Amino acid sequence: MLRPQILHFDSLPSTNLEAAKRAADGAAEGLCVVAGEQTAGRGRRQRQWVSPLGAGLYFSIILRPQLDQSLWPLLTLMAALAAHDALLAACSLETDIKWPNDILVDEKKLCGILAETVDTPSGRAVIVGIGINLTQNAFPPELETMATSVEAATSARPELANLLEALVRELATHYDVLNGPGGNAEIIRRWCMHSSYCEGKLIRVTDGSETLVGTTRGLERDGALRVETDDAEIKVLRAGDVSSVRPR
Ligand code: BTN
Repeated sequence: MLRPQILHFDSLPSTNLEAAKRAADGAAEGLCVVAGEQTAGRGRRQRQWVSPLGAGLYFSIILRPQLDQSLWPLLTLMAALAAHDALLAACSLETDIKWPNDILVDEKKLCGILAETVDTPSGRAVIVGIGINLTQNAFPPELETMATSVEAATSARPELANLLEALVRELATHYDVLNGPGGNAEIIRRWCMHSSYCEGKLIRVTDGSETLVGTTRGLERDGALRVETDDAEIKVLRAGDVSSVRPR
């Protein structure tokens, strides 16, 4: 059973970095780090995560999974489910999960998740970082065609404390599901219920060097995405940036 404990900071370089340092110093599973702003917020693929004061929820949690390491990609799917359910519970906001773990509203990104591993004296830990745009100030105006916020999507100013409480609760619930009997399959089943990207979606995937277009055909047991190409070949993707393609 996950027992979350929350540490609040006004400002940090990155909540992931702070959580990783604390994990390396022996902090227990369930320690959560929250900051009012990040001065060096990190995104996937070495990108920056712009994190101005009060404009977003900047959150990281330490996990020390007992799962087989080949299944650790499911941790980010589990975190995306938790963020999805927290947004629904605290903000009455229905969202779509884009593989593997972006949260979208009307195809614009509202929340990103970055999982990083850190070696610690009691074994390898995973830091799951979650950034949720609360207001439009969370990102620069030039990203307005690609990004959105809870405030824009609900026409109401979100209450950070309520959203944080819901997020921590949903993470504890879904982490327990993942660790329980049949947990992998159950997390994938729930993920697919809340993702239009699971089955039958025409997508483009880029990994920096190669681009692939195809139709999604569900997930493998470790969360990898199956994509059927034009020549009916099934490719299994474990990394990459996914975008939806409008059918011709
Ligand atoms: C992405 O690129 O989509 C992932 C973004 C993850 C951002 C969050 S904000 C809290 C935590 N601390 C960080 O430095 N990054 C993550």
